[in-house]
Amino acid sequence: PLRLAVLASGRGSNLQAILDAIASRRLHAEVTGVFSDRAAAPALQRARDAGIPAGSLSPRAFDTRAAFDHALFAAVDASAPDLIVCAGYMRLLDAATLAPRIGRVINIHPSLLPAFKGLHTHRQALAAGAAEHGASLHFVTAELDGGPVIAQVRVPVDADDDEARLAARVLAREHPLLIATLRLFADRRIALREDGVHVDGRALTAPLQL
Ligand code: GAR
Repeated sequence: PLRLAVLASGRGSNLQAILDAIASRRLHAEVTGVFSDRAAAPALQRARDAGIPAGSLSPRAFDTRAAFDHALFAAVDASAPDLIVCAGYMRLLDAATLAPRIGRVINIHPSLLPAFKGLHTHRQALAAGAAEHGASLHFVTAELDGGPVIAQVRVPVDADDDEARLAARVLAREHPLLIATLRLFADRRIALREDGVHVDGRALTAPLQL
C-alpha cells in the first residue's frame, strides 16, 4: 500500500475522505501519521478514532519557520511515508525543508489554480464574478499555491451563491478529486519531472479534469 503522511490544520474532512476510501478498499493506501500545527484540530481526533498516530507541534514554540518545519518533518519522516498530503494544512512550508521533498508533497487547494491563490478563495471567486470555481490538486513547491497542477474539478457558480454555499459545493467535490489523485499515486502512475507532471509516462499538457 501507498504510505501517506497527512498534514492538517482543521476540520479534517479531506483526511476523513482518505480514511473512508481506505476502509472501503477504494484506495490501496495506509496513513502512517497525521501531523498538525494546531493541537485542537478536529483532524487529530479523526485520526485517533481510526487508530492512526496523530500529533501536533505549536509554531509558537519555535523561533523560526525553518526550525518548526525541521521538527515537523523529522516526525513526518519517522513515519516513513511515500507521499505527504497537505489536506487543509494552512501553513507555508519552509523552502529549504521542502526542497529535498519536492515531488513527494501534494496539496489540495479550493480554487481553479492559478486563479485565487491564498486564503478565502470562495470569497475571492465571488468578488471576481467568476462563472466557474472549483478545486485543484498540485505538487507543492516553494511558491505559494504555485506548484504544478495535477488535477482539477470544476464547479459552476450559481447566481445566488454565498461564500458558505459555494464552499460546501466545492468541498463535496474536493473529496473525490483527492481520492482519484491518490489512486494515481497508489498505482504508481504519476511523477513530477523537470518538464512537469507525468501520468503514465507522458507529460501533462493541462491538468486532468476529474
Ligand atoms: C479544504 O477546503 C481545503 O481545500 C482547504 O481547506 C479546507 C480544509 O478542509 N485548503 C486550503 O485552503 C489550503 N490553502 P478539511 O479540514 O475539512 O479537509
